[in-house]
Amino acid sequence: MEAMTFVLFGSTGDLAKRKIYPALYNLFVDGKIPKSISVVGLGRREMSDADFQEKVEESIHTFSRRVEKDSSLMQHFLSAFRYSQLDATNTEDYKNLLNLVEAREAELNIPSNRMFYLSVAPEFFGTIAEHIKDSGLGATKGWKRLIIEKPFGHDLQSARQLNENLSKAFKEEEIYRIDHYLGKSMVQNLEALEFANPILQSLWNNEHIANIQITASETVGVEERASYYDHSGAIRDMVQNHMLQMLMMTAMHLPARISADDIRNEKINVLKALRPLVKEDMDLDVVRGQYEAGKINGSSVESYVNEPGVSPSSQTDTFLAARLYIDNSLWKGVPFYIRTGKRMAEKATRIVIEFKDSLKELYLDKGETTSPNLLMIEINPHENITLQLNSKNPFNHGHIEPVQINFSGQQEGAPEAYERLIADACAGDSTFFAHWKEVELAWEWVQPLLEAFEENTVPLYKYAAGSHGPDASNALLEKDGFKWWLDE
Ligand code: BG6
Repeated sequence: MEAMTFVLFGSTGDLAKRKIYPALYNLFVDGKIPKSISVVGLGRREMSDADFQEKVEESIHTFSRRVEKDSSLMQHFLSAFRYSQLDATNTEDYKNLLNLVEAREAELNIPSNRMFYLSVAPEFFGTIAEHIKDSGLGATKGWKRLIIEKPFGHDLQSARQLNENLSKAFKEEEIYRIDHYLGKSMVQNLEALEFANPILQSLWNNEHIANIQITASETVGVEERASYYDHSGAIRDMVQNHMLQMLMMTAMHLPARISADDIRNEKINVLKALRPLVKEDMDLDVVRGQYEAGKINGSSVESYVNEPGVSPSSQTDTFLAARLYIDNSLWKGVPFYIRTGKRMAEKATRIVIEFKDSLKELYLDKGETTSPNLLMIEINPHENITLQLNSKNPFNHGHIEPVQINFSGQQEGAPEAYERLIADACAGDSTFFAHWKEVELAWEWVQPLLEAFEENTVPLYKYAAGSHGPDASNALLEKDGFKWWLDE
């Protein structure tokens, strides 16, 4: 990989501390980023290089998945770090930054490849991009790239505006939009599961699949993020990005080649075929919820509206379930149920593929009930693939019972999502980053939901903390003759 400068805006923030420094360190140790990397951290406060390096080291000791015994490796890594004070709107500060970046490039004798990572509030994205361009920081002889993270806008219009601002300074192929779900190993694995296995590939269609269920439930509540979350809700926080990304990864057609462009095109095709929801009938397909007080793992927790920083009359959705249809030849007629919520019974991100039970009748005649075959893909916190089949149980008079075959376990010490994504961005591989078209189409699909929620035309059901969400979410599947699998 080519040597580069990694310019980190928001270098004293939480994400940098918890995720970015540990990721860079692990990539450095594994030789996945060049040893001659230059890292420049930026922040509003004043700090010496030595203090900055100390903070980086501290974060690695606290958050890295491993710390090597060889301390010279740590010293070598830390020596790459420099700090510069920067106010995102101050032109002078960008000039200083450019001087520092160029001086380090000369000192280390590395090409002017520059990675700009914006780990800051999204309202600064546009300003920073503009300053990168105007200051000359973006005028490199090598490559330049931009990494940003959601939220990419608050609605369709603001997302378009943001993209327009960014595209004044960076071309689409230079922008790496992180959706950390795309960095999860089991989400990345979906592609191989679907396309590298002819057994599954031949069944991956509406002829054999009855429905697909995508769940991302959490036990945590709004935490200390009320000021953000109360204006976002589950729809913006999880559905517009993570849930639709998982939908795209599950439903995409076999691409012509396994390349970033082909995969992202197939994902875009999924969103193009996603049936729009009309405001008038939205309650038939969408269940919106908000948690009330309840118990999580035996401890009592507050209702959403009683959380610090949340308005007592808040109508914000902390839960959302929906039935989606993808109107293309592969998926016509197959419901995709998605569900996400805070303060639910368990922390679980999973995809369950329910196959059609077409031989059921054959066994019913013999008084035996079969269960549908299920492919269960556990994404988080455990990684697992399980296939449920029917089999005779010799200990129960040879009756047919479902058996589960487990294919994989957690891989100890595997790289984390941020590690994989940062490595990919440094290598120029955009497969697991969101293309602008994906983001735009996702907002387009979500927009009528935002409006309906705003106008309160979709009921807001309450659910007890620690439950699986409102009853209406079960009813959504029951009316189609299905149920959420794995709700204990
Ligand atoms: C973030 C959301 O994008 O994803 C959070 O802003 C949410 O509200 C988190 O808790 C969930 O991520 P994970 O990896 O724990 O499933």
